[in-house]
Amino acid sequence: PLSTPVQESLNWNTPQRKESTMSRKIHIFDTTLRDGEQVPGAKLNRRQKLEIAEQLARLGVDVIEAGFPCSSPEDLKAVQTVAEQVKGPVIAGLARAVQQDIDIAWEAVKKAERPRIHVFLGSSDIHLQKKLRRDRESALHQAVEAVKYAKKYCEDVEYSTEDASRSDFDYLCRVIEACIQAGATVINVPDTVGYALPEQYGELIRNLREKVPALDKVILSVHCHNDLGLAVANSLAAVRNGAEQVECTINGVGERAGNASLEEIVMAIRTRESFFDAHTTLNTKEIYRTSRMVSRLMNIPVQPNKAIVGSNAFAHSSGIHQDGILKDRSTYEIIRPEDVGIKAHSLVLTARSGRAALRHRLEELGYELTDEQFQKVHKRFLNVADRKKEISSQDLATIVEIELTKV
Ligand code: KIV
Ligand code: ZN
Repeated sequence: PLSTPVQESLNWNTPQRKESTMSRKIHIFDTTLRDGEQVPGAKLNRRQKLEIAEQLARLGVDVIEAGFPCSSPEDLKAVQTVAEQVKGPVIAGLARAVQQDIDIAWEAVKKAERPRIHVFLGSSDIHLQKKLRRDRESALHQAVEAVKYAKKYCEDVEYSTEDASRSDFDYLCRVIEACIQAGATVINVPDTVGYALPEQYGELIRNLREKVPALDKVILSVHCHNDLGLAVANSLAAVRNGAEQVECTINGVGERAGNASLEEIVMAIRTRESFFDAHTTLNTKEIYRTSRMVSRLMNIPVQPNKAIVGSNAFAHSSGIHQDGILKDRSTYEIIRPEDVGIKAHSLVLTARSGRAALRHRLEELGYELTDEQFQKVHKRFLNVADRKKEISSQDLATIVEIELTKV
């Protein structure tokens, strides 16, 4: 049933949410460094991957998928570096359901505090017939053998039924059951091509839970792409229907139209916690900083009207809205900017602000600029500040993005 349209208890005077002891924890699996990195032009070097992975750990994600180690020797080294140095989250490496990939994935993640091997194989007839040229039975056998093989190395094995949302339901159930039997600890049900619709995808998750009782022994995960702009809606529908892990990326970066956006999922669950009866354990105050870092290192600007992290996400421009906000912020804000790490500043930046104030604010926003980059940002800052009376953090982030992405 729909909840009443009354605002959930957003208490503007209480800085931390009260965690309901009964609500389900939703595990956040970040794949910015794997699915996100598949975007053309977004390739990261080892140092950059480590920088993002360390920030993801500060953000408190449960799992970092650090890469696809068999894709290149450089990616193998990058995943190894993340596995050795980043503490806290599970570190996962992706592998096709073949021994060689699994060997390399294990080489990559074995030194992690908590390693995971993530194996995938297509389950839809379209993938089986047109890409893999296999029949269902031999693909099922391959999946089971791959899970058993990965399990020899690693206790934590995730299995993904690629293109699950276009797969035959009974076959999907058989594959999932067999992979759990073979030792999979997480079962992921991807909407690989962003084809699903929220009601349908929610129903798929609910039906899987009903038809495969063994899913109660493992973590049921979802992974949605954004080809129809529905990746977040589909992921949330899945959460409502029993998914316990959501795979997503910072700023929604990823193949084609991207993946489900982490910040939107986390803040939707947090803002509507009683509706979902679920929570995540992320430190949401690190969201903005992480978003800026990913945008800068991957060279992918964030659109101004992007929910949660866009430069206009908390900007109120019409007179009526500004008047409302000044009277009571809850009139036009459902999220406090501070909760995603956009600070309310007592220090107002204007054309007269000194370099030290500018540098300080940039550091607060997560930017560590070289002297040369700082000079360019300062010059543009002065230009903009001459026209605008005050420069907000969002203005500043836009200035930095323009300067750092300029070729
Ligand atoms: O979209 C997809 O199906 C994937 C899998 C490898 C999980 O990225
Ligand atoms: Zn994907």
